[in-house]
Amino acid sequence: MLPYTLIEKKQAGKALTREEWEFFIFGFLSKEIPDYQMSAMLMAIYFQGLEDDEISNLIDIVIKSGKRIHFKNKDIFYADKHSTGGVGDKISLILAPLAAATGKVRVPMISGRALGHSGGTLDKLESIPGFRTNLTLEEFQKQTDKIGCALIGQTDDICPADRALYALRDVTATVRSIPLICISILSKKIAEGIQGLVLDVKSGNGAFMQKPEDAELLAKKLKYFGEANGLKVTPVITDMNQPLGQAVGNWLEVREAIDVLHGGGPQCVRDLSLLLTEEMILLANPQETRQSIRRELETLLDNDIAFNKFLEIAEAQGGDISVLKNPDSYPKSAYVAEVTADEAGTITAIDTYGLGLDAIDLGAGRRKYTDTIDPKAGMLVYVSIGDKISSGDLVVTLFSDNEEAITIKAAEIGERFVLNHTL
Ligand code: URA
Repeated sequence: MLPYTLIEKKQAGKALTREEWEFFIFGFLSKEIPDYQMSAMLMAIYFQGLEDDEISNLIDIVIKSGKRIHFKNKDIFYADKHSTGGVGDKISLILAPLAAATGKVRVPMISGRALGHSGGTLDKLESIPGFRTNLTLEEFQKQTDKIGCALIGQTDDICPADRALYALRDVTATVRSIPLICISILSKKIAEGIQGLVLDVKSGNGAFMQKPEDAELLAKKLKYFGEANGLKVTPVITDMNQPLGQAVGNWLEVREAIDVLHGGGPQCVRDLSLLLTEEMILLANPQETRQSIRRELETLLDNDIAFNKFLEIAEAQGGDISVLKNPDSYPKSAYVAEVTADEAGTITAIDTYGLGLDAIDLGAGRRKYTDTIDPKAGMLVYVSIGDKISSGDLVVTLFSDNEEAITIKAAEIGERFVLNHTL
């Protein structure tokens, strides 16, 4: 087999066999197939798509590129939640301890880093000083069983093929592909050893799927292939036409998640955390009513029980819990800029994708895979679609250690907000 002819085959819209995909993926992993040929293949997939059989085969091949976790206790329901990616999405930081605090599910969560304009749970967790996201698989399983949850990144053991493909997709503009997203998410989640999966499929201008019909198709495919692999799957399509909550940027988002775990924080973040956790508990216990689950979850948030579970998880993973208990003690950005409205009007749209890119420029994300992140950098966005604002109202506060970047962003960021002056 020749990589060249397989690229040509996909380019022509034909399906590759299982053997051909094994040859290509394992050849890429062993570096016999170079990045440039894999990049060409990804672009061919991006334009031509994959048939269902190819998606099934690729999910299986990517899982088999590493190890698969098998939890021993068959009476416990292991579950996870995955978001397809957005701006300001800190729900995992709230849902994981909240779900674990119920004692009804255990959450072995493997998360990703920031991808394109969207943030990554792993980078958010690593903004907590000392927090180890690189537990061994043995430590990961042990902690999940001991305290109900562990939060790690992809290791060399779990789906190494996805890790390598993900990094290449990030720099070759091939992320927005329904079959590639399906393979990437499901391979990791199946390898985690879970039985239930809640999928937050984002739709809107800050999501990878900008059109509602694409988000619906992605949700349908994720459910279909997840169930074909023995998972119970609930996809939920949620809005990403504006940042989720106020905070965009790693530590800023952890801080907002702490507020929600204390029973406060922005209502939209609390509501979505409750909804997705409720879906997860329902997967484990379908006989329970939504109302009783909701009441229980609200109590866990409002009485700091979920927050204490978060502290327990962070401490078990080496995190400095003193900053979680006292977030004001966290180091501050060298530069802070407040941006106010020049005119009065109603906010009718927000360029969420643009805000995600602005956060990267402030230091909150990477332009190249090797870039380091400034955990303090990012922004607080105080307005939402539909808000009426007056001239001089505070719209955004920016945080950065980069004086030039913050000066440019402070001058330009107002253009991300569309105002209607007559409403
Ligand atoms: N999240 C993932 O894990 N993979 C993707 O491809 C997109 C979002």
